Amino acid sequence: MAQPATILDLKEQRFPLDLKPQMEDIRQLWDAAHKTHWDPNTDIPWHLFDASKYSREQLEASRLYWSRRAWTEYTGTAEFCALQMRLCMEKGREIDARIQMSMEQLEESRHCIASYMFAEQLGGYINEPPTPLPKSINHRGIREKAFDLSISFEAIAIAHICIGETIAAHIFEARYRHTTDPVAKELVLRIMKDEQRHIAFGWRYMAHKVKNFTPELIKDMERVAIDVVENSELKGFHCIWLHPSAETKELIESNNLCAEAGLGACTPEQETETLVKSIGDIRVRLAEWGINLPIFNHDVLGKV
Ligand SMILES: [Fe+2]
Ligand SMILES: [Fe+2]
Repeated sequence: MAQPATILDLKEQRFPLDLKPQMEDIRQLWDAAHKTHWDPNTDIPWHLFDASKYSREQLEASRLYWSRRAWTEYTGTAEFCALQMRLCMEKGREIDARIQMSMEQLEESRHCIASYMFAEQLGGYINEPPTPLPKSINHRGIREKAFDLSISFEAIAIAHICIGETIAAHIFEARYRHTTDPVAKELVLRIMKDEQRHIAFGWRYMAHKVKNFTPELIKDMERVAIDVVENSELKGFHCIWLHPSAETKELIESNNLCAEAGLGACTPEQETETLVKSIGDIRVRLAEWGINLPIFNHDVLGKV
């Protein structure tokens, strides 16, 4: 019989269904998420938003910026379901990881809707980019990898959670420090706290797995990690100005004006500092597990 190629070729085999915690520290994240649940309708003080403090240009730019934030958060809605299918279809994956991933889908959808709601306050949500975006800005390829059984879940977790989500969370921390508008600051804070649990999931899950690492698995993890850093992180997925082009021009300008207004974005300088430091910190943590993330040569940033 042919080898299964995608998760859809795997046989459904949910029994025996063991629901007892297997990874207590992951189950704690699931428990914590319930205690910090928030509702974008009632937990953000939208009524305090004072548009009169900002120029027309700042509001227009921030409206586009927060619309783009909603598009980016939608990645979690549209692509994390593939990660959850992968976890649920692969035999032996721990229940704690399966339920935590269902929580993350919910939380990313919440970030998407909350970002949409702020864009509405700023003048109206924009439902598509002004010009079609380059792939590295818009597409993480998580779904494709999650469905492909030749790529281990561990490699996806390292690339998209330990690296991708960690960079996202650190940039949110920088945004929180630099945001001055009280409504934007509350929104950024709420999203940031959820993101901190998402990165904890990746690092904690992989810490459980490290005892089973084989040289082949390490090679697989390094290959996917390098691809994601080179072709996504260093090409503008989180720091859009790293991809200057006619298609991204308006989005870069909107990011910068929104940052200047204190409405929830970071300047390119602030983002660069965070991105470079994050990649350096991630490299050190991965090295402790024998995973080698090389130094990257970047046209603008130099050695990262
Ligand atoms: Fe998010
Ligand atoms: Fe996240």
